[in-house]
Amino acid sequence: MITRFQYGHPIRTDSIIKHIPIEEGYPKHLVYEDGEKITFTYEMKPQDMVYGLGENMRGINKRGFTYISRCVDNAIHTEDCHSLYAAHNFIIIYGIETFGVFIDTAGIVSYDIGETDIDQIIITCDDKDLNIYMIEGKSLKDVAKQFRQLIGRSYIPPKWAFGYQQSRWKYKTENDFREIVRQYKEHAIPLDAVYLDIDYMDNYQSFTIHKDNLPHFEELIQEMKNQGIHMVPIIDAGIKVQDGYHVYENGVKENRFCKDKDGHFFRCGVWPGYCHFVDVLNTQHRNWFGDQYKFLLDKGIDGIWNDMNEPSIFYTDERLKEAYELVDKLKNSELNLNTYFQMCDEFSKLSNNPKDYKLFYHDIDGQKVRHDKVHNLYGYFLTRAAGEAFERFRPHKRLLLLSRGSMIGMHRYSGIWTGDNLAWWSHLKLCIQQMPNLNLCGFLYAGGDLGGFGNNTNEELMTRWVQFAIFTPLMRNHSQSERAQELYTFKNTNTFKNMIEIRYAFIPYLYSEFVKAAIHNDCYFRALSFDYENDPQARLIEDQLMVGESIMIAPIYEQNGRGRYVYLPENMKLIKMRSFNDYDEIILPKGHHYIQVNLNEMIFFIKENHIVPLAKPALTTKDMDFNHLEIIGYVKENTQYILYDDDGYTTNIDNKEYSYTIYVNQYSCYCQNKHITYKKK
Ligand code: GLC
Repeated sequence: MITRFQYGHPIRTDSIIKHIPIEEGYPKHLVYEDGEKITFTYEMKPQDMVYGLGENMRGINKRGFTYISRCVDNAIHTEDCHSLYAAHNFIIIYGIETFGVFIDTAGIVSYDIGETDIDQIIITCDDKDLNIYMIEGKSLKDVAKQFRQLIGRSYIPPKWAFGYQQSRWKYKTENDFREIVRQYKEHAIPLDAVYLDIDYMDNYQSFTIHKDNLPHFEELIQEMKNQGIHMVPIIDAGIKVQDGYHVYENGVKENRFCKDKDGHFFRCGVWPGYCHFVDVLNTQHRNWFGDQYKFLLDKGIDGIWNDMNEPSIFYTDERLKEAYELVDKLKNSELNLNTYFQMCDEFSKLSNNPKDYKLFYHDIDGQKVRHDKVHNLYGYFLTRAAGEAFERFRPHKRLLLLSRGSMIGMHRYSGIWTGDNLAWWSHLKLCIQQMPNLNLCGFLYAGGDLGGFGNNTNEELMTRWVQFAIFTPLMRNHSQSERAQELYTFKNTNTFKNMIEIRYAFIPYLYSEFVKAAIHNDCYFRALSFDYENDPQARLIEDQLMVGESIMIAPIYEQNGRGRYVYLPENMKLIKMRSFNDYDEIILPKGHHYIQVNLNEMIFFIKENHIVPLAKPALTTKDMDFNHLEIIGYVKENTQYILYDDDGYTTNIDNKEYSYTIYVNQYSCYCQNKHITYKKK
């Protein structure tokens, strides 16, 4: 059951798709307080747990810290950070009372979940115009499902987007891209996509091509496509202020950009230098921005990543002026304890300064609104512009779309990557822990930059990251580091080849579980407590995940880890794989186990009377045969598995003919219209 309360006159966020009538009064369970801001408080019992908040810092259970929904470009996120690139305002409180809370607002919200007072949740809403939805259900899964029904079906990418993807902020020329693909082929490591970072643009201007580096752009896209490789260009939110640049000039002529208090176009610095932001919160301007993508689609592009759309600001003239004044003042003095730190501070506060988000305004279809009040909507609406444009220009076709900034609602249009991370073991762990909470908030197509975006990775970290990412729908290796991290650059290339082949073998299962989760508003990744609510041990597990209906994973995420403790909430079959055809299996009883896992091995667990359908790997998904499958399973009695499989690229998705029932017993298996056999080693 969902109840809704409304305070003030909230701005439409389009986060939800269902109409829920407004109730008078105050939400059950929470204490409402109206002061300078609106707060909701809740007294937790010692054993209560809190899930949700999507892309955020810390563990799966959010208890013990404060999280602030304020989309921010935050590359070096250390444990003390409170905000990342997203605003995912949904939590589930799980205890004697279990219920969900969704704060539907474009403003800043903070969640102090037992940080100030170990037993108290304090939700503080900066903007007093908001909707709050309370969701009561009979179980965690039920609350999650009701919420997902409220916000609408998650974005489903084309099937090729389940292949392995390579990116690096370094590739520039046509030959750079050819070389990457050639090396992957030479090493026989499967690959489906290569990304174009900002250097493909002319002068970092979105919707342009660098003519010297990529003189035959369309031919290159086609040449790659012929090899089964999709090229995915980046689009940046900031539009360079530059005479002669068509997007800028037309934008000025047609009045498309956000304005300052005096009605001049707001200007700030991002990658290309001075930029304007298109006012994507205005329907016409949003459509206009969407129209720009046609330029790339017409060149054969079928995937895009939208970046810097929190929106990220490097500097404004106002902040620079303050900083330069301080430098002038201190120029010839001996810096002391105060002045030294004052200067460091002044410069570190140049970027993404909350003051700058108060300097510009939107025209939300006739309503003038200062940006800071709707900050969290910006990335969502910019990506929505692309999603809607894709529907206009390529109706019935699925394209790959990723965004860095996000808010609930955007999950209907796009997937996300979890922004800039670092080649840290703690960021591998964070990535694991973000996945189930992202799913709760509707973001099913998600993944982190494998190996770490910043800092130099190393072979061991990359290996473990790849082994985890075998299960993340988005599997993209992306970095800006000095050290190359394409998989063929490491010493034990064969281990990576084996792991990526395993990923490809899993695609029938991953795709089936993913699309079913999207269609039925379920979670593809889940914390164990969602499946084993009555098991007090399972509740406490922070580093194992359920993946679809058959699998539990327990990734290795520690340096020099050659094994780990795993808790089995029921009897399961452990599979330890070195390659698609080289693996061991053993049935283990419910309980705690220590499992050894060499660096060249990945492990996963199959639940009793469950199976995993596998395909024979190939160099690209295009070359795979999804009609001849092999299964591995832990089958004790007659059982069935519903395999979802479709054409992989049209929007014709929820169609009965795409569901195949696989009938299995201990000895044999059968499926009408698919050729299925038990896997032999
Ligand atoms: C941002 C993005 C990153 C990209 C870089 C250059 O930091 O998050 O993925 O490589 O910009 O475009």
